[in-house]
Amino acid sequence: MSSEPTPAASQPLASMDEWEDFLKTRYPEPAPAPAAESRRPPPVGVAADKRAEEFRQYEADARPTVREFYRLNHTHQTYDFGQAKRKEYLGLNRMRMSVWEAMEYLNQLIDDSDPDTDLSQLQHLLQTAEAMRRDGQPRWMILTGLVHDLGKILCLWGEPQWAVVGDTFATGCAFSSKNVFPGFFAANPDAGNPRFQTPNGIYEEGCGLDRVALSWGHDEYIYQVCKNYLPEEGLYMLRYHSFYPWHREGAYDQFATAKDRAMKSWVLKFNTYDLYTKSHEAPDVAKLRPYYEELIREYFPAQVRW
Ligand SMILES: [Fe+2]
Ligand SMILES: [Fe+2]
Repeated sequence: MSSEPTPAASQPLASMDEWEDFLKTRYPEPAPAPAAESRRPPPVGVAADKRAEEFRQYEADARPTVREFYRLNHTHQTYDFGQAKRKEYLGLNRMRMSVWEAMEYLNQLIDDSDPDTDLSQLQHLLQTAEAMRRDGQPRWMILTGLVHDLGKILCLWGEPQWAVVGDTFATGCAFSSKNVFPGFFAANPDAGNPRFQTPNGIYEEGCGLDRVALSWGHDEYIYQVCKNYLPEEGLYMLRYHSFYPWHREGAYDQFATAKDRAMKSWVLKFNTYDLYTKSHEAPDVAKLRPYYEELIREYFPAQVRW
């Protein structure tokens, strides 16, 4: 089941990085905290209200391509759509390949252009991992940085941008106004389903984020691929790295458990590397490959199911 728009309309972004560039304007890099924890974002929710007006300004200033991307995402990402995609992909029966092969596979995805960086997908993964390595982060975290966007291979299997990237949000309950472009949810068929439109919808408070069906995208897919191989902190980073409404705005927190909230600090720590380490300096892939091949071998089998 899918209500695919025409291909042209489904790919408004010249590059998926346009979405991430927008995120950087919406969520500027937090000022360094005093003392050693220089990469920690501010406490969630504290600055959110103050910045609400600024956010609306960001929406007004967003590129038309980004606006159209969010319109499609918010219109078509229904509860049923996410369930159908889970069924379609999470059997992991499509391919068998190593993690490095998946990185090369993803790298076939050539976006038209990224105005801010001209990095390939593989280079973004290496840059994220290298920034973590420079900061002396644990090996499992560096590896998490290396694989975090491999779920974007969904694009190579014909999925439109709006079904691969975009800030994720909870489906099956009321849309939060803390999402970007909340007005676009009015066109989502779930908006007309009373069962989904109470604050908790089909869920119980404190049920745990893993029970909540988020909008479908590259986070959930890579989490499922990696869930037997990486430590739990890394799995939280993978699964929720695009869940900005929760980890930056405090939305949907009524569903979180104490453990989810404790793990949020890892997601935020990850986020600083993912979003703010992009630079024009391309990593030397050939030189870095042996280090990463060894790191991959430490945690993953030679062949992984995708
Ligand atoms: Fe991502
Ligand atoms: Fe990323």
